[in-house]
Amino acid sequence: MGVSAFAKPNVVILATGGTIAGEAKSELATTGYKAGSLGVDVLINAVPDLVNIANISGEQIANIDSSNMTDEIWLKLANRINTLLKDSKVDGIVITHGTDTMEETAYFLNLVVKSNKPVVLVGAMRPATAISADGPKNLYNAVALASSKEAKDKGVMIAMNDKVYSAREVTKTHTLNVETFKAPNSGEIAYIVDGKVFFNSNSIKLHTKKSPFDIKGLKALPKVDIVYTYSNDGSKVAVEAFLNSGSKGIVVAGSGAGSIHENQKNYLIELLKDKKIVVAKSSRVGSGLVPLSAEEVEQGFVSANNLNPQKARVLLMLALTKTTDPKEINKIFEQY
Ligand code: SIN
Repeated sequence: MGVSAFAKPNVVILATGGTIAGEAKSELATTGYKAGSLGVDVLINAVPDLVNIANISGEQIANIDSSNMTDEIWLKLANRINTLLKDSKVDGIVITHGTDTMEETAYFLNLVVKSNKPVVLVGAMRPATAISADGPKNLYNAVALASSKEAKDKGVMIAMNDKVYSAREVTKTHTLNVETFKAPNSGEIAYIVDGKVFFNSNSIKLHTKKSPFDIKGLKALPKVDIVYTYSNDGSKVAVEAFLNSGSKGIVVAGSGAGSIHENQKNYLIELLKDKKIVVAKSSRVGSGLVPLSAEEVEQGFVSANNLNPQKARVLLMLALTKTTDPKEINKIFEQY
């Protein structure tokens, strides 16, 4: 519901870059601009009404195009959020972020943030300099959401284009349009109207305080890579290259319900026999579950459940900090 003007919550905005901080040469340009250009103060000052709903402070964690996101920035961001949220004076966090890999960062944080206070990622599809830039309204909504009592215990969320999505379920679906985020398996969890948040559902998967993954003290994450399935494929080249470069896990973006070309699959089966790598089967389709046959379970494959390949990769990286046993990792994919 709405935010009382009398007891303003304290919200910290952590900026990482993206189009929301992007600057173009002309106000008509919505492509060819530099993402991650403006600082956090500029973003905050562009929305004077923020001070009516929360006490705001800002920190610059990075200023990048999110296609250049790294594990190092993830760890820095997650550690900073965990420190801030331990402070009883901090009520919620908003992270400004590029939309391209926002779903991956959101899901990573959903699994490693140890607090039930609201954590909201927000971005924009049009640079800050564009006519009808969507960033300011999205930022206002994100702060309203992070300030809302109802947003507690919901896990990490994304607020874009007046809608709120669970980090577990959300994905980017359009290259340019402002209505780009969707949750294909479940839909949005809330709608925001004039700063009022109306929740209607949430993901049933475990997150934040109920997630066992702890990044405290971690300097790096296990290397996991993605191989894509397509017709006339079947080579082992990509898998072999990843293996030789230190990958501990492979996510296969399979066709349909997770099918893998038999030539490539036979090679993966060989690697699984020798326990060289963990392999999670996901799908390039964009929604729906990937089931495993009894034979595949026996061979040691993991099902990515209904996570898309880029999010299956995030969970596999964290799962590998706990175990390399495919049966255990399968259980992890069912729960988170
Ligand atoms: C980025 O992801 O940093 C660029 C694209 C965007 O924010 O929409």
